[in-house]
Amino acid sequence: DTLRIWPGPTTRVWRYDGRVVAGDPSALSFVANGYAPILRVRRGQKIRINFINELSEPTIIHWHGLTVPAALDGHPRDAIGTGRRYVYEFEVRNRAGTYWFHAHPDGRTGAQVYYGQAGFLLVSDEEEAFGLPKGEHDMPLMIQDRRVDADNQFVYLAQRAGGMMGRGMMGGGMSGMMERMMGFLGDRILVNGQPDYVLPVATRAYRLRLLNGSNSRIYKFARRDGVPLTVIGTDGGLLGQPLKRPYVTLAPAERVDLWIDFAGQPVGTDIALDSLPFDGDAAMGGMMGGLTLPMGAHFPIMKFRVARREQAHDQLPPKFKPLPPIRAQDAINATQPRTFGITMGMMTWGINGRRFQMDGVTSSETVRAGTTEIWEFRNDESMMLMAHAMHVHNVQFRVLDRSVAADLAAARATLSGGYVDEGWKDTVLVMPGERVRVLMHFGSYTGLFLYHCHMLEHEDTGLMRNYLIR
Ligand code: C2O
Ligand code: CU
Repeated sequence: DTLRIWPGPTTRVWRYDGRVVAGDPSALSFVANGYAPILRVRRGQKIRINFINELSEPTIIHWHGLTVPAALDGHPRDAIGTGRRYVYEFEVRNRAGTYWFHAHPDGRTGAQVYYGQAGFLLVSDEEEAFGLPKGEHDMPLMIQDRRVDADNQFVYLAQRAGGMMGRGMMGGGMSGMMERMMGFLGDRILVNGQPDYVLPVATRAYRLRLLNGSNSRIYKFARRDGVPLTVIGTDGGLLGQPLKRPYVTLAPAERVDLWIDFAGQPVGTDIALDSLPFDGDAAMGGMMGGLTLPMGAHFPIMKFRVARREQAHDQLPPKFKPLPPIRAQDAINATQPRTFGITMGMMTWGINGRRFQMDGVTSSETVRAGTTEIWEFRNDESMMLMAHAMHVHNVQFRVLDRSVAADLAAARATLSGGYVDEGWKDTVLVMPGERVRVLMHFGSYTGLFLYHCHMLEHEDTGLMRNYLIR
C-alpha cells in the first residue's frame, strides 16, 4: 500500500485497511490520509474482527489496554502466516477511553508498527459523555517519529554498515545493531501520518486524544504560548477530575486526553504544540551521539489553526466520575511486592536477568485470577540505565508511588512534572534510577499474558516476559 505523505514519491506503508466491515459503518473511520484506522466501539458491545495477514511475514494483533481472553490478546505464539486469518470475537469490558491496537509478533513488533500496523480503538459509554466534545471535535492524534530516504520511503534502523564499536557510533549516529538494542529515533514527526500537521479548528472546545505511537521516543508536550494543558484522561479513560500540567510527558504507548478551548481566539491564530527539551541523554544512557533529533530535543509537533467562528458555550466539567480509592492493603502481596528489575546481559535486555521466551509454561510469573497485587518496576539495577515504558497486558493499574536514586533525580526532574499518575494506566514510564510501584487487579480471564517495555526495540530484544493468570 502506498500513501502520499510528502511531495514527490509516495511512501510504502503496511497499514490496516479495514476493508471488510459489516455492521455499523460509523464504527470504522480513518485519519485524514487513510494512514490509520479509528475503530469506535461501546462498552459492553460484542465485536468480531476477521484479521487477514497480507504481509509477507507472520503477525498478530494486540488490543492495547483492553481486557480480552488470552487467546485473543495477540501473544506472539499466536502469530499467523501470510494469507492466514485470525478471528477476534470479544466483549468490550473496558471503561470508555482511548485504546489502540498494533502488531505483536516475536522480534518484529518494532518493524511492523513502524511501517504502519497501528490504529485507534475508542471505547465510549453513556456515563462517559459529561457533555465532552464529540464528533469532529473529538480528535485522535497519533504522534510518531520516522526517518525517510531520498525517495520518501520509511527507513527502519540505521542502514549504515559497521558493528557496535564502528564508526557509526562514534561519528555519524548509532549503527543499526546499536539502535536495535537501544531504541529507534526518527527525525521527522508525523501526526496521524502527516508531517507539519495543521489541524483547522473552530472557536470552541476540543477533546484531543494523544497517543504516543512512536517506537522509542518520549515526548514532553507543551503549548508554545505557555498556556498549561488541561488533562482529562489517561490510558484507561477519564480522570476523576480535570488536571492542569505545564507540560505532559508521554512515553511510547501512553495516551492522554486533553481539553483545549479555542473560544475567543481570533480566526487565523495558530496555536503550536511542541516537544520541550529534557535530559534525554540520561534517558538514553548517553548513547545518542550524532542523531539529528536526539531524545530530549526541542522540536515542533503540530499546529491548531483557528479557521472559523462557531458559537459554542462549552464548559469543562469540574469533575468526572470519582475513581475508586487506591488501596494498597487490598494487595495479597502488600507486605512483599513482586519486584521486576530491568537488566541487561550479553547484548540482551531482560527482566530479573531473564529475557523473553515464547514458551510460557516454564518461564512465567503466575498470579491468581480475582486477586490484587503490587508490582514494582526497578530501573536502577542494570549496568545500562535507559528510560523504559513498562506495559502490562490485560489490566489497567494505578500508580502507587515512585522513587528515584539521588544521582539521577535531577535528570528525571526535567520531565517528571508531566507525569499523569492520577488515572488508570496500562503503561508507565520508568526513568533511569527510578522505581515505580503499581497496583493491579487480575480479572477472570485466565491464561498467558505479557508484560514488557513498550520501547519496541527493547521489547524485540528481550525486555518482555510472560505471566500466567490461573
Ligand atoms: Cu502495546 Cu504488548 O503492547
Ligand atoms: Cu525499554
